[in-house]
Amino acid sequence: MFFFRKKSKEPQDAPASSPKPVFDERNLEALLHYVEHYSGVNLTPKKEVLKQRLILFCENNGLIGFDDLFTKIQADASLRQNLINLITVNETYFYRETIQLEAAVAWLKERGGKARVLSAPCASGEEVYSLSMLASQSGFAPYTLSILGIDINSEAIQKAQKGIFSERSLHRLDEELKSTYFMKIAGEYTIVRSRFAGVDFQVLNIFDDAFLRLEPFDIIFSRNMMIYFDDVFKQKTVERFHKLLKNGGRLYTGHADLVPSTPLFTKVTQGRLSYYEKV
Ligand SMILES: C[S@@+](CC[C@H](N)C(=O)[O-])C[C@H]1O[C@@H](n2cnc3c(N)ncnc32)[C@H](O)[C@@H]1O
Repeated sequence: MFFFRKKSKEPQDAPASSPKPVFDERNLEALLHYVEHYSGVNLTPKKEVLKQRLILFCENNGLIGFDDLFTKIQADASLRQNLINLITVNETYFYRETIQLEAAVAWLKERGGKARVLSAPCASGEEVYSLSMLASQSGFAPYTLSILGIDINSEAIQKAQKGIFSERSLHRLDEELKSTYFMKIAGEYTIVRSRFAGVDFQVLNIFDDAFLRLEPFDIIFSRNMMIYFDDVFKQKTVERFHKLLKNGGRLYTGHADLVPSTPLFTKVTQGRLSYYEKV
């Protein structure tokens, strides 16, 4: 108990035998470097803002500095997951950039047969549920389309699995869509599970070996994740997506993702819509 209380800003409050917390720049940089190596997320532009949150994180976990955190996250998977949950940005909503979702569904419908779609990352699942809603409206029979949502943030995936969303998250949906696909309970919207057959979620880091063991997909959506990566990690991401796509498969990215030039994909632009076709 006393150990935790010693984390006063006044160093003289600490008992003589307790190590003094060390929140120095050098170890902060080593920590951010580790996070980037692990997840691709480049936190350097947000370093100053993040510093206070990371100090609080250390204090709440009884850690005595950034070097202590750096050492412990390499061995302690649960601590590492909590850190990843803290630093990732999970902003998303239903029917975001609908033009891409509709185009993807129309292409799969035209081809016929069963299809597999990956949403990487899906954050709290709105992209996955939106695709499923558009597919059911365009006449896909249940289970002909399977949609897997993955994300490195375990809290976001838990939220996706629960399927309970705020009014704000549904702001692009009209009343008919809301009442068809959701039940409004205590001001929140719970998905009508039977309407979302073939939807699944998994906590997964795209740089984990397990990612490449997923079954191939016809389409990958990767929107608003590569904006947090530098060019090296964007390139690695695109290479991994290439491995997971079926021949002729499509990659849809967000407008701000700035995909690096690569011989692995051909960029196709149709008016406001663009996607990358696997070569
Ligand atoms: C802004 S959200 C994008 C969600 C959705 N695709 C959209 O555009 O609305 C970015 C997500 O990328 C996830 N992410 C970052 N690095 C990742 C990685 N290495 N593997 C899987 N997900 C990652 C974050 O946890 C976060 O939920």
